[in-house]
Amino acid sequence: MRLGIISALYEEQQGLVEAMQGPYKLIHGQREYWVGKLFEIDAVCVLSRIGKVAAAMTATTLVEKFGVTHILFTGVAGAGDKTVQVGDIVVAESLVQHDMDASPLFPRFEVPLTGLSHFPADHRLGTRLADAAQAFLDRDFEEAIDAREKTVFGLVQPRIHRGLVASGDQFVNDASHINSLNDALPGLVAVEMEGAAVAQVCYELGVPCGVVRTISDNANENAATDFMRFVKSVAARYAFHIVRRFCLQ
Ligand code: ADE
Repeated sequence: MRLGIISALYEEQQGLVEAMQGPYKLIHGQREYWVGKLFEIDAVCVLSRIGKVAAAMTATTLVEKFGVTHILFTGVAGAGDKTVQVGDIVVAESLVQHDMDASPLFPRFEVPLTGLSHFPADHRLGTRLADAAQAFLDRDFEEAIDAREKTVFGLVQPRIHRGLVASGDQFVNDASHINSLNDALPGLVAVEMEGAAVAQVCYELGVPCGVVRTISDNANENAATDFMRFVKSVAARYAFHIVRRFCLQ
């Protein structure tokens, strides 16, 4: 296995690069690719930046230039359903580009000429990610997140959800918008801005991908403030411990 690990934000990637053994940096397409070993696994860590084009470019480069055999995306997301709460962890089963709409030529959400609206995440990687997330919650969470942070974010008993993740070039910060996406996309658990682009690239190139996201906000009117606070404090520790547990399995 040669694992490509993509994060959208610096905070989410920082801990992973620091944990790499003997990393070296290669710059390609205005991005830094950190190549080395992460908990004994051959890995390449990279910051995609935000949005579907950025993520697609990064995933393609990981496969074509760095020869990765599997791709993981770690980061944060807005809740896509009322049952999903801040601090919960979401593992994608499939991913949809919620801002894709070539109707009436093609059905809403379908990526023209692929015949698909939902791109699969790899089931085995998903199970390994969900197990890693559970190990993080059971074994690392108490120590990794302090009491004040648990109170501030209401992290009582975080849960793991597997389901549909929707990506678009929009930060969703409007209750009526997230509610209408939830209505239109059965099984929706989270919204973010990259995962479905990575899933399409991986599907087309035949590379398994996994997407794991921690919920930072409810994609409503408070989303921007909640997101900023979550990313500045606990997000990096979630990402780090989940990837660590994934690699150690
Ligand atoms: N990532 C984290 N929160 C998000 C939101 N509300 N919309 C889109 N991407 C997000």
